[in-house]
Amino acid sequence: MTSIVYSLRNVVKERLVENAGFRLKVPSIDIHAGENIALVGHSGCGKSTLMDILALVLHPDKADRFLIDPVDGEADDIDDFWRRKKRNRLSRIRKQHIGYVLQSGGLLPYLSVRENIELPRKLLKLPDDDSINSISRVLGIHRQLDKLPGLLSAGERQRAAFARALSHRPSILLADEPTAALDPITARKIMAVVMELIKGLKITLITASHDWAHVYRMDLRVLRQEAGPAEDGRIYESTFRD
Ligand SMILES: Nc1ncnc2c1ncn2[C@@H]1O[C@H](COP(=O)(O)OP(=O)(O)O)[C@@H](O)[C@H]1O
Ligand SMILES: [Mg+2]
Repeated sequence: MTSIVYSLRNVVKERLVENAGFRLKVPSIDIHAGENIALVGHSGCGKSTLMDILALVLHPDKADRFLIDPVDGEADDIDDFWRRKKRNRLSRIRKQHIGYVLQSGGLLPYLSVRENIELPRKLLKLPDDDSINSISRVLGIHRQLDKLPGLLSAGERQRAAFARALSHRPSILLADEPTAALDPITARKIMAVVMELIKGLKITLITASHDWAHVYRMDLRVLRQEAGPAEDGRIYESTFRD
Protein backbone atom coordinates (compact mmCIF):
# COMPACT_ATOMS: atom_id res chain seq x y z
CA MET A 1 0.00 0.00 0.00
CA THR A 2 1.39 3.39 -0.95
CA SER A 3 0.73 6.24 1.43
CA ILE A 4 -1.77 9.00 0.69
CA VAL A 5 -0.08 12.34 0.03
CA TYR A 6 -3.23 14.47 -0.32
CA SER A 7 -6.62 13.65 1.16
CA LEU A 8 -9.44 16.13 0.47
CA ARG A 9 -13.14 15.92 1.38
CA ASN A 10 -15.70 18.58 0.53
CA VAL A 11 -13.21 21.32 -0.18
CA VAL A 12 -14.84 24.52 -1.49
CA LYS A 13 -13.44 27.83 -2.71
CA GLU A 14 -15.55 30.69 -4.00
CA ARG A 15 -14.39 33.62 -6.08
CA LEU A 16 -17.03 36.30 -6.06
CA VAL A 17 -16.76 39.29 -8.33
CA GLU A 18 -19.73 41.65 -7.96
CA ASN A 19 -22.84 39.62 -8.86
CA ALA A 20 -21.18 36.87 -10.80
CA GLY A 21 -19.09 34.21 -9.20
CA PHE A 22 -17.16 31.03 -9.46
CA ARG A 23 -17.23 28.08 -7.07
CA LEU A 24 -14.67 25.27 -7.02
CA LYS A 25 -15.82 22.01 -5.42
CA VAL A 26 -13.78 18.94 -4.55
CA PRO A 27 -16.08 16.28 -3.04
CA SER A 28 -13.37 13.66 -2.52
CA ILE A 29 -9.83 13.26 -3.82
CA ASP A 30 -7.05 10.99 -2.53
CA ILE A 31 -3.67 11.21 -4.21
CA HIS A 32 -1.15 8.46 -3.49
CA ALA A 33 2.62 8.80 -3.26
CA GLY A 34 4.30 8.59 -6.64
CA GLU A 35 1.08 9.06 -8.63
CA ASN A 36 1.06 11.27 -11.73
CA ILE A 37 -2.13 13.29 -11.86
CA ALA A 38 -3.63 15.70 -14.38
CA LEU A 39 -6.23 18.39 -13.80
CA VAL A 40 -7.72 18.91 -17.24
CA GLY A 41 -10.33 21.42 -18.29
CA HIS A 42 -10.94 24.55 -20.30
CA SER A 43 -9.63 27.94 -19.32
CA GLY A 44 -11.43 29.36 -16.29
CA CYS A 45 -12.59 26.01 -14.89
CA GLY A 46 -10.55 26.39 -11.69
CA LYS A 47 -7.35 24.46 -12.38
CA SER A 48 -5.07 27.20 -11.02
CA THR A 49 -7.39 27.73 -8.05
CA LEU A 50 -7.09 24.06 -7.12
CA MET A 51 -3.32 24.06 -7.76
CA ASP A 52 -2.92 27.05 -5.41
CA ILE A 53 -4.95 25.21 -2.76
CA LEU A 54 -2.73 22.13 -3.16
CA ALA A 55 0.37 24.39 -3.01
CA LEU A 56 -0.90 25.72 0.35
CA VAL A 57 -0.94 29.30 -0.91
CA LEU A 58 -4.73 29.67 -1.16
CA HIS A 59 -7.03 29.15 1.82
CA PRO A 60 -10.17 27.15 0.95
CA ASP A 61 -13.45 28.58 2.32
CA LYS A 62 -14.41 25.18 3.62
CA ALA A 63 -12.80 21.77 3.98
CA ASP A 64 -14.27 18.79 5.83
CA ARG A 65 -10.83 17.28 5.43
CA PHE A 66 -7.57 18.62 3.97
CA LEU A 67 -4.64 16.44 4.97
CA ILE A 68 -1.14 16.33 3.52
CA ASP A 69 1.49 13.68 4.17
CA PRO A 70 4.40 14.30 1.80
CA VAL A 71 6.90 11.77 3.17
CA ASP A 72 4.77 8.99 4.65
CA GLY A 73 5.06 10.27 8.17
CA GLU A 74 2.21 11.71 10.18
CA ALA A 75 -0.33 13.62 8.10
CA ASP A 76 -0.57 17.37 8.70
CA ASP A 77 -4.04 18.90 9.04
CA ILE A 78 -3.83 21.77 6.57
CA ASP A 79 -7.40 22.89 7.25
CA ASP A 80 -6.52 23.23 10.94
CA PHE A 81 -3.34 25.22 10.12
CA TRP A 82 -5.32 27.62 7.92
CA ARG A 83 -8.08 28.09 10.50
CA ARG A 84 -5.57 28.74 13.31
CA LYS A 85 -3.48 30.98 11.02
CA LYS A 86 -0.38 28.80 11.42
CA ARG A 87 1.28 30.42 8.41
CA ASN A 88 4.75 29.33 9.45
CA ARG A 89 3.72 25.70 9.49
CA LEU A 90 2.13 26.07 6.04
CA SER A 91 5.16 27.85 4.65
CA ARG A 92 7.55 25.26 6.07
CA ILE A 93 5.67 22.38 4.46
CA ARG A 94 5.50 24.30 1.20
CA LYS A 95 9.22 25.15 1.13
CA GLN A 96 10.42 21.73 2.15
CA HIS A 97 8.13 19.35 0.30
CA ILE A 98 6.58 21.16 -2.67
CA GLY A 99 8.02 22.38 -5.97
CA TYR A 100 5.71 24.62 -8.04
CA VAL A 101 6.13 25.43 -11.74
CA LEU A 102 3.96 28.16 -13.21
CA GLN A 103 2.98 28.66 -16.85
CA SER A 104 5.30 31.64 -17.16
CA GLY A 105 8.11 29.88 -15.30
CA GLY A 106 8.39 32.62 -12.72
CA LEU A 107 12.21 32.78 -12.77
CA LEU A 108 13.63 35.93 -11.21
CA PRO A 109 15.00 37.97 -14.16
CA TYR A 110 17.90 39.59 -12.29
CA LEU A 111 19.37 36.32 -11.01
CA SER A 112 21.36 33.92 -13.18
CA VAL A 113 19.76 30.60 -14.04
CA ARG A 114 22.06 28.91 -11.51
CA GLU A 115 21.09 31.38 -8.77
CA ASN A 116 17.41 30.83 -9.56
CA ILE A 117 17.79 27.07 -9.29
CA GLU A 118 19.79 27.40 -6.06
CA LEU A 119 17.19 29.59 -4.38
CA PRO A 120 14.95 26.89 -2.84
CA ARG A 121 18.05 25.14 -1.47
CA LYS A 122 19.38 28.39 0.02
CA LEU A 123 16.03 29.06 1.75
CA LEU A 124 16.27 25.63 3.36
CA LYS A 125 19.99 26.08 4.13
CA LEU A 126 20.79 22.89 2.22
CA PRO A 127 24.48 22.27 1.47
CA ASP A 128 26.15 23.17 -1.84
CA ASP A 129 26.57 19.80 -3.49
CA ASP A 130 26.48 18.59 -7.06
CA SER A 131 22.68 18.52 -7.24
CA ILE A 132 22.31 21.77 -9.23
CA ASN A 133 24.77 20.53 -11.86
CA SER A 134 23.29 17.07 -12.08
CA ILE A 135 19.66 18.17 -12.32
CA SER A 136 20.62 20.79 -14.93
CA ARG A 137 22.42 18.15 -16.98
CA VAL A 138 19.39 15.85 -16.93
CA LEU A 139 17.14 18.72 -18.00
CA GLY A 140 19.62 19.79 -20.69
CA ILE A 141 20.32 23.31 -19.43
CA HIS A 142 23.79 22.84 -17.91
CA ARG A 143 25.32 25.19 -20.52
CA GLN A 144 22.86 27.95 -19.64
CA LEU A 145 23.55 28.17 -15.91
CA ASP A 146 25.52 31.42 -15.94
CA LYS A 147 23.09 33.29 -18.21
CA LEU A 148 20.20 35.48 -17.14
CA PRO A 149 16.77 33.87 -17.82
CA GLY A 150 15.98 36.54 -20.43
CA LEU A 151 18.68 35.11 -22.72
CA LEU A 152 17.16 31.63 -22.79
CA SER A 153 14.60 30.27 -25.22
CA ALA A 154 11.08 29.76 -23.84
CA GLY A 155 11.67 26.00 -23.70
CA GLU A 156 14.98 26.41 -21.85
CA ARG A 157 13.31 28.75 -19.38
CA GLN A 158 10.66 26.13 -18.55
CA ARG A 159 13.39 23.51 -18.16
CA ALA A 160 15.10 25.88 -15.73
CA ALA A 161 11.79 26.42 -13.91
CA PHE A 162 11.50 22.64 -13.47
CA ALA A 163 15.11 22.49 -12.24
CA ARG A 164 14.33 25.18 -9.68
CA ALA A 165 11.15 23.43 -8.55
CA LEU A 166 13.09 20.17 -8.08
CA SER A 167 16.47 21.34 -6.73
CA HIS A 168 15.54 20.90 -3.07
CA ARG A 169 14.24 17.38 -3.77
CA PRO A 170 10.58 17.97 -2.91
CA SER A 171 8.29 14.96 -2.78
CA ILE A 172 5.47 16.84 -4.53
CA LEU A 173 5.78 18.60 -7.90
CA LEU A 174 2.95 20.91 -8.95
CA ALA A 175 3.05 22.21 -12.52
CA ASP A 176 0.35 24.63 -13.71
CA GLU A 177 0.19 24.53 -17.53
CA PRO A 178 3.98 24.33 -17.59
CA THR A 179 4.27 23.91 -21.35
CA ALA A 180 1.23 25.87 -22.56
CA ALA A 181 3.42 28.62 -24.05
CA LEU A 182 5.61 26.18 -26.00
CA ASP A 183 5.25 24.48 -29.35
CA PRO A 184 3.85 20.90 -29.07
CA ILE A 185 7.13 19.14 -29.90
CA THR A 186 9.14 21.11 -27.33
CA ALA A 187 6.33 20.63 -24.80
CA ARG A 188 6.34 16.88 -25.30
CA LYS A 189 10.14 16.64 -25.04
CA ILE A 190 10.26 18.61 -21.79
CA MET A 191 7.47 16.62 -20.16
CA ALA A 192 9.11 13.33 -21.21
CA VAL A 193 12.35 14.37 -19.48
CA VAL A 194 10.49 15.57 -16.40
CA MET A 195 8.40 12.37 -16.15
CA GLU A 196 11.55 10.24 -16.43
CA LEU A 197 13.30 12.33 -13.78
CA ILE A 198 10.47 12.19 -11.25
CA LYS A 199 9.94 8.47 -11.75
CA GLY A 200 13.45 7.86 -10.43
CA LEU A 201 12.89 10.23 -7.51
CA LYS A 202 9.43 8.84 -6.54
CA ILE A 203 7.89 12.28 -6.73
CA THR A 204 4.12 12.82 -6.83
CA LEU A 205 3.28 14.97 -9.87
CA ILE A 206 0.14 17.06 -10.29
CA THR A 207 -0.05 19.01 -13.51
CA ALA A 208 -2.81 21.21 -14.92
CA SER A 209 -3.51 21.46 -18.63
CA HIS A 210 -6.25 22.53 -21.03
CA ASP A 211 -4.80 20.26 -23.70
CA TRP A 212 -6.41 16.80 -23.61
CA ALA A 213 -4.21 15.30 -26.32
CA HIS A 214 -1.07 16.37 -24.50
CA VAL A 215 -2.24 14.81 -21.23
CA TYR A 216 -3.33 11.52 -22.80
CA ARG A 217 0.08 11.08 -24.40
CA MET A 218 1.72 11.49 -21.01
CA ASP A 219 -0.22 8.68 -19.33
CA LEU A 220 -1.46 10.64 -16.30
CA ARG A 221 -4.40 9.84 -14.04
CA VAL A 222 -6.98 12.46 -14.98
CA LEU A 223 -9.25 13.93 -12.32
CA ARG A 224 -12.71 14.30 -13.82
CA GLN A 225 -13.94 17.88 -14.09
CA GLU A 226 -17.49 19.01 -14.75
CA ALA A 227 -19.01 22.46 -14.65
CA GLY A 228 -22.20 24.40 -15.07
CA PRO A 229 -24.34 27.14 -13.58
CA ALA A 230 -25.49 26.48 -10.01
CA GLU A 231 -28.54 27.53 -7.99
CA ASP A 232 -29.85 30.86 -9.27
CA GLY A 233 -27.54 30.72 -12.26
CA ARG A 234 -25.25 33.50 -11.15
CA ILE A 235 -22.60 31.16 -9.84
CA TYR A 236 -20.60 28.97 -12.17
CA GLU A 237 -19.69 25.80 -10.34
CA SER A 238 -16.82 23.52 -11.26
CA THR A 239 -16.23 20.13 -9.63
CA PHE A 240 -13.10 17.98 -9.68
CA ARG A 241 -13.52 14.29 -8.81
CA ASP A 242 -11.24 11.33 -8.18
N1 LIG B 1 -7.96 36.27 -7.58
C1 LIG B 1 -9.15 36.06 -8.11
N2 LIG B 1 -10.23 36.80 -7.72
C2 LIG B 1 -11.45 36.57 -8.23
N3 LIG B 1 -11.70 35.63 -9.16
C3 LIG B 1 -10.69 34.88 -9.59
C4 LIG B 1 -9.36 35.04 -9.10
N4 LIG B 1 -8.56 34.14 -9.71
C5 LIG B 1 -9.35 33.44 -10.54
N5 LIG B 1 -10.62 33.87 -10.47
C6 LIG B 1 -11.78 33.33 -11.19
O1 LIG B 1 -11.93 31.97 -10.82
C7 LIG B 1 -12.27 31.18 -11.95
C8 LIG B 1 -11.26 30.05 -12.10
O2 LIG B 1 -10.03 30.59 -12.47
P1 LIG B 1 -8.69 29.72 -12.59
O3 LIG B 1 -8.57 28.86 -11.38
O4 LIG B 1 -7.57 30.64 -12.91
O5 LIG B 1 -9.03 28.77 -13.84
P2 LIG B 1 -8.05 28.01 -14.85
O6 LIG B 1 -6.71 27.92 -14.22
O7 LIG B 1 -8.70 26.67 -15.05
O8 LIG B 1 -8.04 28.79 -16.12
C9 LIG B 1 -12.36 32.12 -13.14
O9 LIG B 1 -13.70 32.47 -13.28
C10 LIG B 1 -11.52 33.31 -12.71
O10 LIG B 1 -12.00 34.47 -13.31
MG1 LIG C 1 -4.86 28.50 -14.88
